[in-house]
Amino acid sequence: MKFVQIGGGVIGEMRARTVINHPDCTLVAVADPNAEAAARAAGSSGAKLVQDATDLLEGDRCDAVIVSTPVQLHERIILDALSAGKHVLVEKPLGNTVESCGRIMEAVRSSGCAVGVGFNHRFYPSFAFMREVIAEGRIGKLDSLRVLGGHDGLANFRSEWMYKSEFSGGGATMDVGIHMTDLTRFMVGEIETVYATTSNEVWKVEGSEDRAHALMKATSGVSVQYEASWNEWKGFEVWMEAYGDGGMVRASYGPMLNVLIEQTRPGSSRKKTRNFFPEVVLREKLKGWETTSLLSFEAELAQFLRQIDGGDSLGANAWDGARAVEIANAVMASGRSGEVVRLSEPPRPPE
Ligand SMILES: NC(=O)c1ccc[n+]([C@@H]2O[C@H](COP(=O)([O-])OP(=O)(O)OC[C@H]3O[C@@H](n4cnc5c(N)ncnc54)[C@H](O)[C@@H]3O)[C@@H](O)[C@H]2O)c1
Repeated sequence: MKFVQIGGGVIGEMRARTVINHPDCTLVAVADPNAEAAARAAGSSGAKLVQDATDLLEGDRCDAVIVSTPVQLHERIILDALSAGKHVLVEKPLGNTVESCGRIMEAVRSSGCAVGVGFNHRFYPSFAFMREVIAEGRIGKLDSLRVLGGHDGLANFRSEWMYKSEFSGGGATMDVGIHMTDLTRFMVGEIETVYATTSNEVWKVEGSEDRAHALMKATSGVSVQYEASWNEWKGFEVWMEAYGDGGMVRASYGPMLNVLIEQTRPGSSRKKTRNFFPEVVLREKLKGWETTSLLSFEAELAQFLRQIDGGDSLGANAWDGARAVEIANAVMASGRSGEVVRLSEPPRPPE
């Protein structure tokens, strides 16, 4: 499988590395107007360095592209790649508005190509464990979910497109919160209604909320309490807790941790299990937290290759990406209006 890496910045460099390291993949080129970034991402792979990917989409120069550019460029690059018949793995969020995601969805449906969306938190060991526990019924019938994704805000951003709403599409909800929205659907299925309050008193960036609190109802009946934050002064933190009639499970990163409580019936004696992931703690201490992202990107690439082959994939597809943006926008709209937002009927997943 021949890949072009489009955007060779911080994330693009890591994505390129996963392609270079994969035995069935070749990195044929890195496209980035910043020549230094392109060269860094290509490393010693011998991949061609170009400023613009357009020429590389012609003919059989590549089979697939990875899009790791600023968010406001995702739509145009995806549409170009799909119309050239190339598979696409794109970073979150799929697009910066619901309308943009709708246009991408239309193109996906008529293209016959695979589109994966970079929701790599699905592959963090603690969240993968949580999903398995829920799927195996180890905490019984699911009742509710609590979710938080946050960090300490604007100091974490290197460019205006990362936090100004005209580019990003919103604040904490479209940033770290979009991972939590995807993980919510990954754990409990489709979301139907959203009621939210949002605040903007800390960073005061127009259209970019600092914090969102939301209550969501899933089609399955599960009740969700969601929070996304840019003033989590403790630093980066993502966690979820699921409660069922047979126990609860918590998954977090920062640190990577699980707590599982199992009981045979509500209120009966409980068995408690903790996963501390010492191998993750040690690896991050020696080699940095980026290694955890890199491993999740490797797992995501493997699932994307399955998706291209028509197999079942644990990765997010275009529909997952579009739905996450729709839910994030429902949170922001409810925060503005004070009304409950009922989401559209779920669109049909791409064939
Ligand atoms: N999965 C995650 O946890 C995660 C984390 C951070 C960022 N992201 C996403 O990754 C993407 C990139 O973020 P980043 O932090 O690497 O940003 P970055 O600024 O480090 O990199 C972006 C790169 O895109 C290049 N670029 C700009 N216009 C281009 C074009 N037309 N064609 C090709 N390249 C172009 C820039 O020169 C830059 O090198 C964004 O979509 C962001 O939302 C995902």
